[in-house]
Amino acid sequence: MTFPTAAFPDGVPVLRDGDVELRAHREDDLDALVEQCLDPQSVAWTMIPRGYDAAMGLEFLTTTVPQGWRTGSERAFAVVATHPDGRRRYAGTVSLRDLGSGRADVGFVAHPAVRGLGVMTQALDLLLDYAFDTLATQTVIWWAVRGNWGSRKLAWRCGFTFGGTVHRWLAEHGGYQDAWVATLHRDDERAPLGHWWSLPTLEGEDVVVRPLRADDDARIVEGGNDPAVQRWMPTFPTPYRLEDAAAFRALVTDAAATGSSFSWAVADPRTDRLLGAVGIPRRTDTSVEIGYWLHPDARGHGYAQAATETLVAHAFTPRDMGGMGALRAYVRVDELNRDSLAVARACGFEMSGTERAGQVRRNGTFADMLVLERINPLIAF
Ligand SMILES: CC(C)(COP(=O)(O)OP(=O)(O)OC[C@H]1O[C@@H](n2cnc3c(N)ncnc32)[C@H](O)[C@@H]1OP(=O)(O)O)[C@@H](O)C(=O)NCCC(=O)NCCS
Repeated sequence: MTFPTAAFPDGVPVLRDGDVELRAHREDDLDALVEQCLDPQSVAWTMIPRGYDAAMGLEFLTTTVPQGWRTGSERAFAVVATHPDGRRRYAGTVSLRDLGSGRADVGFVAHPAVRGLGVMTQALDLLLDYAFDTLATQTVIWWAVRGNWGSRKLAWRCGFTFGGTVHRWLAEHGGYQDAWVATLHRDDERAPLGHWWSLPTLEGEDVVVRPLRADDDARIVEGGNDPAVQRWMPTFPTPYRLEDAAAFRALVTDAAATGSSFSWAVADPRTDRLLGAVGIPRRTDTSVEIGYWLHPDARGHGYAQAATETLVAHAFTPRDMGGMGALRAYVRVDELNRDSLAVARACGFEMSGTERAGQVRRNGTFADMLVLERINPLIAF
C-alpha cells in the first residue's frame, strides 16, 4: 500500500501555521540540511549516517525526497521558520511513511538552531492535520530510541499515547536499539495526555543531580561493589557488573518516563565525575520515598546531604513550576545503618515510625526499617 502518487515539487502543498511553514524541499536547503545532519543529537537518535556531507545532502534533496512523493512511499516536507539569527530558512524535516491500511509512521529532525523553540511542535501538528484531513490516515505511529526525551516530549505534546518499550527494535548505526513507541488515532484528542515526567538536571549546593550516563557505569560498578553499599542495598546484584549498570540506566529511563520511580547521578559540579546516586524508588500521588548511596571515595564531604536536600526541594516544588508537587518525603533506613540515619536527620527528616521486618537483609535476617519523614512546608493543611 502507498499514499497516492504526487508530482514533485508541484504536487507538494504548502502548509502554514504562523511563522512555521511546511513546503517541498529545495536545493538551496542544502547548507542548513548538512548542518542539521552533522549535529551530534541528530546522529545519536536517528539513522542519519555519520560523516554527512554535501553529496549525501544533495542526494536526499534531489532523489530520496522526490522519489517518496512520486512513488507514494513517503511524504517528507521541509520545515521553514525564522532562526534565532533572524533569517528565515530550512529548519528541519518532518515526514510520513505509508504503512498500509490507513496507518503511517512519523519521523522528524530539527535543525539544532531552532530546537526547544516550539517550531517542531507546530510542524508536527501541521503534518498530523495533513495526514488525517488530506491523506485520510487513520492512525500514526511514532518510534524513538529509548532515552530520546526531546522526541518523546514532542510526541506527548501532540497527543500521542505512549505504548511502552520494545526490546531491540530500531536498526540504527549497525545495531538494534530498544525503542519507545506511541500512537495517535485520528479521533484522539490532540493534546498532551497526563503529566510530563522526566529526569531534569538539578543544581544543588556542591553537587549537581543529573541523569545517569553510559560514562558513569565504571564508577557505578565501583560503588555498587563497595562492601557498605552491598550491605545496605540488598537488592544490588553481587558482584555488580558493567552490564548491571547499563541495565539499571535503562530501567531508570523507562520508570522515570511513567513517573513510577526516578534515579539520578550525584556529580561533582566542577568535574562532572559521579559521586553516587540519589533517587525516588517509589512515588505515589502524595509522597516520595528518597534513597541515596555514595561511591566510597566521595563519603565524608556532605554530598549525600546536599543531593538529598536538592531532591527534596525538587519533590516539593509545585508541578506547574517544574517540580513533583509531593506533600511528603520519607526515607526508610535499616535500624543498624547509622550513617544513612545521620544523613536523613541532617536533612531534617523526623522519625515517624518503624516498619517491622520491612526488608530482608543480604544475610537473610529481617531488618526493622526506621521511617523518617518531612512534610512539604508549602502545603497548607
Ligand atoms: C526531537 C526534536 C525534533 C525535538 O525538537 P524541539 O525543537 O525540541 O521541539 P519543540 O521545541 O517543538 O518541543 C519539544 C519539547 O521537548 C523539550 N525537549 C527537547 N529536548 C529535551 C530533552 N533532552 N529532555 C527533555 N525535554 C526536551 C523541549 O524543551 C520542548 O519542551 P517545552 O516546550 O516544554 O520546552 C529535536 O530535538 C531533534 O531534532 N533531535 C534530533 C533528531 C531526533 O531525535 N529526531 C526524532 C527521532 S525519533
